[in-house]
Amino acid sequence: MSNPSDRIVVALDTTDVERALAMAAALEGLVGAIKLGKEFFTANGPAGARRIVDVGLPMFLDLKYHDIPSTVAGAVRAALPLDPFMLNVHALGGAAMMRAAADAAAEAGAKRPMVLAVTVLTSLVTADLASVGIFGTVRDQVVRLAVLAKDCGLDGVVCSAEEVVALRGACGRDFKLVVPGIRPSWAAAGDQKRIVTPADAVALGADYLVIGRPITTAANPAEAARRIGEEITAFTDAG
Ligand code: C5P
Repeated sequence: MSNPSDRIVVALDTTDVERALAMAAALEGLVGAIKLGKEFFTANGPAGARRIVDVGLPMFLDLKYHDIPSTVAGAVRAALPLDPFMLNVHALGGAAMMRAAADAAAEAGAKRPMVLAVTVLTSLVTADLASVGIFGTVRDQVVRLAVLAKDCGLDGVVCSAEEVVALRGACGRDFKLVVPGIRPSWAAAGDQKRIVTPADAVALGADYLVIGRPITTAANPAEAARRIGEEITAFTDAG
C-alpha cells in the first residue's frame, strides 16, 4: 500500500447505480477501494458492478459465498471478469469449500483477488451461536475459523476491531484483517454498536477499514474521505 488512505474501503450500500457511480467518481484518489455487496449486486448484477469498476477504483466484491465447494468455485470463477481485488466466503462452508474458492481465484494469475473469510457475523453474540449448536465463545470461534481459513490458503478475514489483536497473534503479520464498524469521532454511530475510530483501528493492526455511512451520507463525501485519510496518515507518521 503506497498511501495510508489506500486502507480505506468505502461501502457503496445502495441499489442506485447512478448514486454509486457519482460516489465512486467523487472518491477516486482519496480512498483505496470501494465495496459492492448483496444490496447493490442483487439489484444491478455484474453489468451494474462493471459500470462502477470502470470508474477505476479497486473493488471488494462482498457476496459472502457459502455453498458446496464446486458451486462456490464456480461463483468465484464467474466473479473474476469483474477484476475484484478482494472477495469473500463464509468460513463455516468448511475447509474444502475455502480451498476450492482459493484455487478458483488463483486461476486469475497475477490479477488474483484476495479471498477473505467471514468467521462469525458481528451481529451474533455467544448466545446466538449456542442456539445454532455452536458452543463456546464468539472469540474462540472467530480464532478457530480464521486459523482454518489461513490453513486453507485464504488471504485474511473480515473481523471486528475487538478481534484484531487476537487474530494478529493467531494468524501472523501477513494475514489481512479487514475491519468494518469504523466511526470517526465526528460521525454518527448509526446502527453500529462496537465502533472504533480510523486511527484506533490502524493502531490495533487493521489492514483495511470498511467505511460506509460516515463517507457516503456526509454532506461532502470527498471531504469526509480526505479527513479520514489525514487521520490515518497522522497516526502512521506518528508511529
Ligand atoms: O455504514 P457503515 O460504515 O456502518 O458500513 C459498514 C459496511 O460494512 C456495510 O457494508 C456493512 O454491511 C459491512 N459490515 C459490517 N459489519 C460486519 C461485516 C460487514 O458493518 N461485521
